[in-house]
Amino acid sequence: MKIIQTIAEMLQEIKHLRKMDKTIGFVPTMGYLHIGHQELMKRAKKECDITIVSIFVNPLQFGPSEDFAKYPRDFEHDTQICKEIDIDILFMPEASELTANTLSYVEVSELDRHLCGKSRPGHFRGVCTIVAKLFNIITPDKAFFGRKDIQQLQIIRKMVADLNFDIEVIGVDTVRTEDGLALSSRNSYLGVEERKKALIVPTTLKEAYAGIKNNLPRTEIIDSLTQKVQSIDGCNVDYLEIVDATKLQPTDDYQQDLIIATAIFVGKTRLIDNILVTNH
Ligand code: PAJ
Repeated sequence: MKIIQTIAEMLQEIKHLRKMDKTIGFVPTMGYLHIGHQELMKRAKKECDITIVSIFVNPLQFGPSEDFAKYPRDFEHDTQICKEIDIDILFMPEASELTANTLSYVEVSELDRHLCGKSRPGHFRGVCTIVAKLFNIITPDKAFFGRKDIQQLQIIRKMVADLNFDIEVIGVDTVRTEDGLALSSRNSYLGVEERKKALIVPTTLKEAYAGIKNNLPRTEIIDSLTQKVQSIDGCNVDYLEIVDATKLQPTDDYQQDLIIATAIFVGKTRLIDNILVTNH
């Protein structure tokens, strides 16, 4: 496995791979790799000749009061995982080179109006800007993103279509622990008691799903489940929403594909998750 830390070296490597007519699969991450990330990597390996993983804790996508400084990092362990999965190239650029002087930003409007876009202003602008930069450097044939961050996935899809990136965006199903919690680097913040309480996240989604299948009104589902979560000591709902699966706007029309999405604080840790509701 090659570890590349500068943009110049990465561009050189891509030129070389292109000459050899290799297809490139790309998995962008912020590191602290878990089984969810690994699923994306394995999928990329299956579908492409060369797999490139990037690890970059992107300062542009963290708000001023968010956890950029204390976001978990373990580059040694991450490198080990990438080696084990037999990743071809691990790209770990420096912030001083990748983002420090950026005055250009990429923003996808409308799709960021609700859910995480609403509670984290500027977050998706930071995500799109960094992903666009990485796409321009790596020029992958396919890029792999988790459905766990469903709003991110849909926004990236739209950015790719709008800006004519010649890249196929592949969505990969959410990987969960046996008890149902979606894997996330942020789960490492949870204490033992909080880890137990965190199951309220998938439980809330399941109950909202049942509410939709029973045709209960959207606001009734959201209000009653929000109350239920708030009644648990240390748990706070950031948002719970039912949106259509493409434009991500709140909707009461249950005839279309829907996404139930939530962000819940368990202690100080903000956990997000979502499930798809289809009609067939
Ligand atoms: P990060 O949170 O490290 O996630 C990297 C990729 O792994 C994302 O596509 C995310 O959706 C996927 N992922 C995370 N947990 C998952 C799970 N339990 N199951 C399946 N996939 C999962 O998302 C980011 O980084 C950043 O915003 C990034 C796209 C790298 C831009 O900075």
